[in-house]
Amino acid sequence: MPVVSGSSARGLAEDLARQLDWHHIQMESRRFPDGEGYVRVPEDSISSVREQDVVVVSNTFPDSGIVETLLMLEAISDVRAGRLASLKGGMDSQDDVGAGLYLAIPYFGYSRQDKRFQRGEAISAQALGRIFAGHCDGMVVLDLHAPVALEGLPVPVKFVSAMPEVAEYLSENVKPDFILSPDKGAIERASSVAEAIGCRFSYLEKVRIDAHTIVHQPKDLDVDDSIVAIIDDMISTGGTICKASEALHSQGATEVHAACTHGLFTDGAISRLDQHVDGVHATNSLSNPRSSISGGKALARGVRELLEN
Ligand code: R5P
Repeated sequence: MPVVSGSSARGLAEDLARQLDWHHIQMESRRFPDGEGYVRVPEDSISSVREQDVVVVSNTFPDSGIVETLLMLEAISDVRAGRLASLKGGMDSQDDVGAGLYLAIPYFGYSRQDKRFQRGEAISAQALGRIFAGHCDGMVVLDLHAPVALEGLPVPVKFVSAMPEVAEYLSENVKPDFILSPDKGAIERASSVAEAIGCRFSYLEKVRIDAHTIVHQPKDLDVDDSIVAIIDDMISTGGTICKASEALHSQGATEVHAACTHGLFTDGAISRLDQHVDGVHATNSLSNPRSSISGGKALARGVRELLEN
């Protein structure tokens, strides 16, 4: 079966296709001079996307990724529905091959706006979830910040996590004695890594003042002489990790590493992190210079579950 990617997640789509033993199709994609996007199912893949179920792998980040994801789903839906007539010729219309178009989202943009924090706001994650659900027959989402945001959609959604792969990678390459969750929101993910590795675990309580300022409540962590890995779903500015790392170093940690699924690394985060931690490890959900862990295995688990059900 085909795994299709556009401009955002080619490496991960190839990774997923390998895990599933399917084949990879690269959509034609480009930008017009004014910045608008264009996608097309390649001529030699038209029959392939009609003959079998299709999984589109696309990041809904940055904003251009949202539009490209929708255009890819629309183009493939048209082909699958047999709408093949075009101004420049081609095949006549054909039969509709029916359902079987799935969307795998490695990094779901806007996932942190999962609630209405102040009246008058849009619940962005929910709004986007509803839009994508209207264009596919099911979704797989990797390490979504808070899965509750996509509850109740009209198509099945499989939430998958790359934490088993993060644990395996850390175990082989970092050998941590202690896993730290930098806030309450990451406890479930980080504790699953500690359990898989078989090491000690604790968490911090974080208050975010603004996008660049966070404060942790002081806590005794018992990390003297320890190698510690801080685990989060995403690293953006790096502020959360840098603050947690300061607490760990001041309490005697000998080595501090940071690991996450989604390495956004905005605003010079990599150089800031390099001054605070001994290593930064992310999956390839987003393309970044620290993507040493496969996200394809987790996505493959989700795709298999989606198709089995
Ligand atoms: C928020 O709760 C997330 O799980 C991350 O902790 C946060 O987005 C990281 O952002 P930054 O790297 O900018 O501190």
